[in-house]
Amino acid sequence: MTLATLGRAAIPPTRVHEMDAVVVGAGGAGLYAALELKQELGPEARIGVISKLYPSRSHTGAAQGGVCAALGNTEEDHWEWHWFDTVKGGDYLVDQDAAEVMCRDAVETIINLEHLGLPFDRTPDGLINQRRFGGHTRNYGEGPVRRSCFSADRTGHSILQTLYQQCIRRDVAFFDEYQVLDLALPDGPGGRAAGVIALQLATTELHAFRARAVLFATGGYGKVFKVTSNAHTLTGDGMAIPYRRGLPLEDMEFFQFHPTGMYKLGFLLSEAMRGEGGFLVNDSGERFMERYAPTMKDLASRDVISRSIYLEVAAGRGIGGKDYVHLDVRHLGAEVLDKKLPDMSGFIRTYFGLEPLTDLVPIQPTAHYAMGGIPTDIDGRVLADEKGALVPGFYAAGEVACVSVHGANRLGTNSLLDILVFGRRAGKRMAADLADLPEPTVDAEAEASAAATVSGLLAGTDGERPAVIRAELQEVMFSKCGVYRTDRLLVECRDAVADLRARARHLKVDDRGCRYNTDLGEAIELGYLIDCAEATVESALARRESRGGHAREDYPNRDDAGWLKHTFASRGPKSGIMSLRYKPVTITKFEPKARTY
Ligand code: FUM
Repeated sequence: MTLATLGRAAIPPTRVHEMDAVVVGAGGAGLYAALELKQELGPEARIGVISKLYPSRSHTGAAQGGVCAALGNTEEDHWEWHWFDTVKGGDYLVDQDAAEVMCRDAVETIINLEHLGLPFDRTPDGLINQRRFGGHTRNYGEGPVRRSCFSADRTGHSILQTLYQQCIRRDVAFFDEYQVLDLALPDGPGGRAAGVIALQLATTELHAFRARAVLFATGGYGKVFKVTSNAHTLTGDGMAIPYRRGLPLEDMEFFQFHPTGMYKLGFLLSEAMRGEGGFLVNDSGERFMERYAPTMKDLASRDVISRSIYLEVAAGRGIGGKDYVHLDVRHLGAEVLDKKLPDMSGFIRTYFGLEPLTDLVPIQPTAHYAMGGIPTDIDGRVLADEKGALVPGFYAAGEVACVSVHGANRLGTNSLLDILVFGRRAGKRMAADLADLPEPTVDAEAEASAAATVSGLLAGTDGERPAVIRAELQEVMFSKCGVYRTDRLLVECRDAVADLRARARHLKVDDRGCRYNTDLGEAIELGYLIDCAEATVESALARRESRGGHAREDYPNRDDAGWLKHTFASRGPKSGIMSLRYKPVTITKFEPKARTY
């Protein structure tokens, strides 16, 4: 019997799982948290990891160029320099106490990973090798420093395999290919979390996971944009679910566009290609980054380089007058391209039919990373409001969360570091908190509502196909809420998103079956994308300044007097009314200064 035949009345979940803690998402943050939970609590602890994908397909695997830590293995480096670069990279919107924790913990975290078995590239002396990456500097901005530890250009893949193997070794329970539908909040919004409700994709059955502690580590929502480096599955599930329950999302207006996406495809060509010596050229072969960032050049921060590419294109200096420029890596030679950047070289050969040793590579900025997300403290505990109230039992880590260590613009390789440091810290915190958290109780409303959503979607016959609405959403977000924004574009975008939300109330799911109903899954994900788009555009419209990844042509300057603050966007679960509140940035050491590279 399919859920569609059951009608909209309260449908009991087909299976209930009693756990101690549940982790949603099997990327680096989720796996490291699960591993810590097992290590802290021992083999008897019932730790479940629910994932939409088979864990080794999680998007952490797509992170290429490295994970940074001031090891100083190939040249002098200090975690304080890393801390400064992170704060400056984030255009001073970074909470400096949190960034201090990340940069300081980085060194021990990388060594811990090495001990867990991660196969890092080595120097001739056998140390972990390190390469350059954008915005990472020696001595507070003097020039590039080698800080990124790497495993060829498959660093995320190596992290994922290492942590997954360790979790298997410790008997973490994996629930692969389960789509999360809701968070159990039996005492209402602001009350404690007590588990999740999920859909088993193989069977279309509902499962209730009851637990005293829940961690969301579901990644970002890059699929809201037309050109993106993100996989099809990055649909903001973990952000949309608490947002629907009236909880806030922080700093959603800050979305990073990575400068070197493959033209039109959006797939990432790692910044490591520039870290190893590649550079960008315009139509006349000029190394234009020398004009925009005289010190760091092609290793300036990503927001600066993406905007520079747009300006070159707008000035008619794109290749053949079109909307792209070239990445030149020909001079790196076969040794570097095939040994240190084998996947990148393979992508260029496979997807473009070009030879990186002899051809220039067409690139354009691609939507890459959400700086915003579920607000948390430095131990992954979710904040219920801008004043710092906590949601007991609810934790978040990785791209889904906003600690905030990236502020208005993340530095390359700080994302893998973020998932590791804060995934691990969240796991430790959950383990410590567990004894004080109450036994989970049933959230009958959430379970019934999840069942009604699924059966309602399966019963829909006369609506539009989710893919049609998704494509329009991606187009409007890319063209009106992308690298450059204006009041007019954002108002148009907001209206378009509202219109798409109304249209998405009537969806047609063609597949009525119960086996891997991806049609149903995409209808559910469309709702999540629309929620994330709404929070993004509303937050962007309100912020009348330019800072990091949020560039307003109508407000081109950073305005510290008015806007050195975090946005908390929430939506009344019943009223649907949006509200924006603000929280001061934590500044402990580095006073905001003009930002040049
Ligand atoms: O360019 C890259 O390899 C991406 C790294 C990152 O986003 O941190």
